[in-house]
Amino acid sequence: MFFSATFLALCLLAAPVRAQNATSAYVDPSVPTGTPIPADYTGALRPQIHYSPPRGFMNDPNGMFVDAEGVYHLYYQYNPTDTVAGNQHWGHATSRNLYTWENQPIAIYPGAEGEAIFSGSSVIDVNNTSGFFPNQTNGVVAFYTLNTAEEQTQDVAYSTDGGYTFTKYVNNPVISINSTQFRDPKVIWYPLTQQWVMVVAYAQEFTIGFFTSPNLTTWTHASNFSRHGLLGLQYECPNLLQMPMLSNVSIENPLGESNVASSDMFILYISINPGAPLGGSIGEYFPGTFNGTHFSPVDQAARIADFGKDNYAAQFFYGIPATSPQISIAWASNWQYTQVVPTGQLEGFRSAMSLPRYNALANTTRGDYTLVSLPYDLSPLYSSTSSLANSSALANSSLLYDYSSTAPSGAVTFNMSITSIPLANVTGTANFTFMSSVTGESIRGGFFLGGDTPFWIDRGYIRGFENPFFTDKFSTNSLIDTDTQTFRLQVVIDRSILEVFLENGLRSATTTFFAEGMLDTLVISTRELNPGVQVSAEVFGLNSAWTPLANSNGTVAGNVTMASQRVRRNMLGHVNL
Ligand SMILES: *[C@@H]1O[C@H](CO)[C@@H](O)[C@H](O)[C@H]1NC(C)=O
Ligand SMILES: *[C@@H]1O[C@H](CO)[C@@H](O)[C@H](O)[C@H]1NC(C)=O
Ligand SMILES: *[C@@H]1O[C@H](CO)[C@@H](O)[C@H](O)[C@H]1NC(C)=O
Ligand SMILES: *[C@@H]1O[C@H](CO)[C@@H](O)[C@H](O)[C@H]1NC(C)=O
Ligand SMILES: *[C@@H]1O[C@H](CO)[C@@H](O)[C@H](O)[C@H]1NC(C)=O
Ligand SMILES: *[C@@H]1O[C@H](CO)[C@@H](O)[C@H](O)[C@H]1NC(C)=O
Ligand SMILES: *[C@@H]1O[C@H](CO)[C@@H](O)[C@H](O)[C@H]1NC(C)=O
Ligand SMILES: *[C@@H]1O[C@H](CO)[C@@H](O)[C@H](O)[C@H]1NC(C)=O
Ligand SMILES: *[C@@H]1O[C@H](CO)[C@@H](O)[C@H](O)[C@H]1NC(C)=O
Ligand SMILES: *[C@@H]1O[C@H](CO)[C@@H](O)[C@H](O)[C@H]1NC(C)=O
Ligand SMILES: *[C@@H]1O[C@H](CO)[C@@H](O)[C@H](O)[C@H]1NC(C)=O
Ligand SMILES: *[C@@H]1O[C@H](CO)[C@@H](O)[C@H](O)[C@H]1NC(C)=O
Repeated sequence: MFFSATFLALCLLAAPVRAQNATSAYVDPSVPTGTPIPADYTGALRPQIHYSPPRGFMNDPNGMFVDAEGVYHLYYQYNPTDTVAGNQHWGHATSRNLYTWENQPIAIYPGAEGEAIFSGSSVIDVNNTSGFFPNQTNGVVAFYTLNTAEEQTQDVAYSTDGGYTFTKYVNNPVISINSTQFRDPKVIWYPLTQQWVMVVAYAQEFTIGFFTSPNLTTWTHASNFSRHGLLGLQYECPNLLQMPMLSNVSIENPLGESNVASSDMFILYISINPGAPLGGSIGEYFPGTFNGTHFSPVDQAARIADFGKDNYAAQFFYGIPATSPQISIAWASNWQYTQVVPTGQLEGFRSAMSLPRYNALANTTRGDYTLVSLPYDLSPLYSSTSSLANSSALANSSLLYDYSSTAPSGAVTFNMSITSIPLANVTGTANFTFMSSVTGESIRGGFFLGGDTPFWIDRGYIRGFENPFFTDKFSTNSLIDTDTQTFRLQVVIDRSILEVFLENGLRSATTTFFAEGMLDTLVISTRELNPGVQVSAEVFGLNSAWTPLANSNGTVAGNVTMASQRVRRNMLGHVNL
């Protein structure tokens, strides 16, 4: 969670007295309570398979957990009253498949004017360690940073209805160190010590603090992790979690169940903003071990999680067994330009989340630990059971496919496989282009198979947004897997977001783009490949996840089932947020 100097200055000016009563019932009259915000999700820039807020401004994912019924809860940093950051609340949406999201009423509100509910996390307190849940095993406890002009404190709110409405803990804050730069608590359960563990950022000291607690409200400082890796200007949004390992990263679908084994490895994931190597916001991670109080990285290296410029503040769901691939969602934007991208003026919202990703660690080329990330199962969205287009003979040839009628959502994915790559003297290139047949705009990518296989993305042929920080070219390098002599690429495009996954997920990038015309045509081509190299590709159309939720006038209303009851409860003051 980071705001520009201007926003912080506004905060300071506007801030009245520090709230004395953390459970007070202040509600900004312009913010809807007890009911989801209805919205039109059909805009030309509006992602159709990614989460984006009904209107207003969204940044970091918060509070992510999966409940015992398999419902994923996503909360998010939310300004419901403007398309720039400020007035932070926790927005809320739920999903069973991580693509179809039901908008829920705002979950956590500031308790007083001048307060903001900043980023944080949630857990399910199955054993009632907090004492908040006398008679249930599905109680949800949320941790957030309460931001005021004077201080950032770590506060708690709990939910007895499975995460829809929250009550702030009467003895908040649970951690206060008289700092204005102390935020983004993320909590996990550590079974070996039967303790809860929180990681939280001392943002401008480049330190992640580790705290432990038996009951979620009394926290003891246990250790610090300071000045590792890239620093930028701040550390934010830490995550600590146990990570399974892949036994073989070379196979197709390496994150499939039989290839994933539990391990003692953890990762500490830290977001940096501003000051990323490409400018603005980025995520880095440290593989290592954790003993209940201390994290020990395997080495001194900083590993960047995504080589694009639009993947920040990633959070991992609470509640996924440590033996399974861990699921993450990041904010698909960058603080350098997020508050001026054209979705605000044109469609009344700013920012979308990244694809949900499956993650696990692998020991890869040169003995390095790498976080392998691939999209969470997209197949429920496939517009037909077979691919829209495919070719198994793409060597030194090309495929052109117009998907305007077969994938009217504008959301498409393709996989490409290059096999029988020789071990020496490798030549050739393989490229893809998504273009608009109307405006001629395009977003492109590709790689050079020789040497260290440089891969590039270029969003510079898209005309809808100009900004000095909206860098247009990104690249990375990788090595052809010499065991399999294969290179794999998966690409997902969704109106204004492009995500690429190379080499079975060893490298990935998230890239936003804002075209004047809808992209509708895909070209995949290869050239100058060595004799014997084989190339195949398959293209799938993806159905809009939002269209089925719209009513007859095209509005996505969200979960209105309980709206009247919730409003009544708010009016009676029993839901004191
Ligand atoms: C805090 O606010 C709540 C709800 O308005 C009220 O019931 C309670 O008495 C207040 N507590 C204090 C200490 O002022
Ligand atoms: C949960 O904790 C509360 C407060 O300590 C206690 O009254 C209640 O009996 C506990 N319930 C269970 C099921 O442990
Ligand atoms: C606890 O839950 C059970 C089963 O739902 C219910 O019968 C009982 O009345 C509840 N007790 C209290 C004290 O809420
Ligand atoms: C909190 O920090 C501010 C700024 O450093 C300082 O002026 C103030 O005295 C501190 N308050 C307490 C209670 O320590
Ligand atoms: C709940 O209690 C069980 C039994 O003591 C224990 O094994 C488990 O780790 C606890 N889990 C949580 C999240 O408290
Ligand atoms: C939480 O645990 C701490 C340490 O055991 C204890 O001092 C405190 O009273 C507990 N808090 C609650 C609300 O039970
Ligand atoms: C955890 O690791 C730290 C640092 O290596 C060490 O000081 C501490 O004793 C360890 N704790 C346990 C329970 O092993
Ligand atoms: C991964 O590689 C490192 C460095 O070569 C090695 O120390 C470690 O044991 C390996 N771990 C696994 C699980 O293969
Ligand atoms: C690679 O190219 C060099 C120079 O043309 C040649 O000498 C060598 O035999 C080639 N190696 C293989 C494995 O084809
Ligand atoms: C791919 O793009 C690169 C960079 O523009 C170019 O050098 C190469 O010839 C292209 N290859 C194909 C197959 O279009
Ligand atoms: C469309 O439906 C929404 C939600 O049901 C409602 O708020 C809105 O007023 C409707 N708009 C029109 C033009 O009927
Ligand atoms: C709607 O919200 C209520 C809680 O207010 C919840 O019980 C229900 O499951 C939600 N329905 C959907 C479809 O999200």
